[in-house]
Amino acid sequence: MRIVRICCFSTDIRQKKEVRPIITAEDLYFSYTGAAPYLLDHLALHIPDGDYVSVVGDNGSGKTTLMRLILGFLKPTSGRIVLTAKRIGYVPQRNDFSNAAFPITVFEALDSYRRLIGLKDRSAIDDSLKQVNMAEHKNALMGTLSGGQAQKILLARAIMGRPELMILDEPSTGVDMNSQEEIYAFIKRLNTQSGLTIVSVEHNLDAAISNSTSIFHMTNGHGHMCTPRQFLEEFLNTSRREHDHA
Ligand SMILES: Nc1ncnc2c1ncn2[C@@H]1O[C@H](COP(=O)(O)OP(=O)(O)O)[C@@H](O)[C@H]1O
Ligand SMILES: [Mg+2]
Repeated sequence: MRIVRICCFSTDIRQKKEVRPIITAEDLYFSYTGAAPYLLDHLALHIPDGDYVSVVGDNGSGKTTLMRLILGFLKPTSGRIVLTAKRIGYVPQRNDFSNAAFPITVFEALDSYRRLIGLKDRSAIDDSLKQVNMAEHKNALMGTLSGGQAQKILLARAIMGRPELMILDEPSTGVDMNSQEEIYAFIKRLNTQSGLTIVSVEHNLDAAISNSTSIFHMTNGHGHMCTPRQFLEEFLNTSRREHDHA
């Protein structure tokens, strides 16, 4: 893992007040076989309403699996997850959604989602496209969009149902730098201005440190919550130890 650029820590020092948890996971065990060894092993997670939490950890550490458990796509082998959010927006990991072979337009993609979530108001499509600056691409074929544009459509889709909680899985993967800046600024605004709770799986540590209020660092089947500053110190200490032993 490499950090390219370190930004400010303004979010670290935000005053914490007692708020209701939006996600609580306790004593969570999960394996795809339903038996040991467990991919998630006695994991606890508490996310307060209004936070912006980045979930970080090595490839294969179970970040996507944890998101699928929170979303209810997978069931815990044991333990429990309690959500207080009724409406959840989800931006899946990009290789979960290949747009290349999609012979449908942006409008059709969003309209089918609108119908799926039972939203009557068709203007929600234009509204959400406007919010991500993609209104002029409404009739474009999904397969013709760049990585950044496709990601913005997935964001537009996720906000259409006016979620209280937004779960994103590696939102900057396959996205050019300019679109990355736009996307993170948009996610941050959803958090600070609209009060959405954000849970974002990140391999982009720079974005995690710059944007999040907390970082959930996953290792060995569980994780711990830390501030971006604490995470950076842990990261630098680990890098130093690895360097000393090299
Ligand atoms: N549907 C599945 N069936 C079996 N194993 C899976 C499945 N999905 C993921 N895995 C395995 O679970 C582990 C964790 O995967 P994942 O949650 O995608 O990790 P991460 O998102 O942290 O990279 C990996 O070893 C992966 O191969
Ligand atoms: Mg993943």
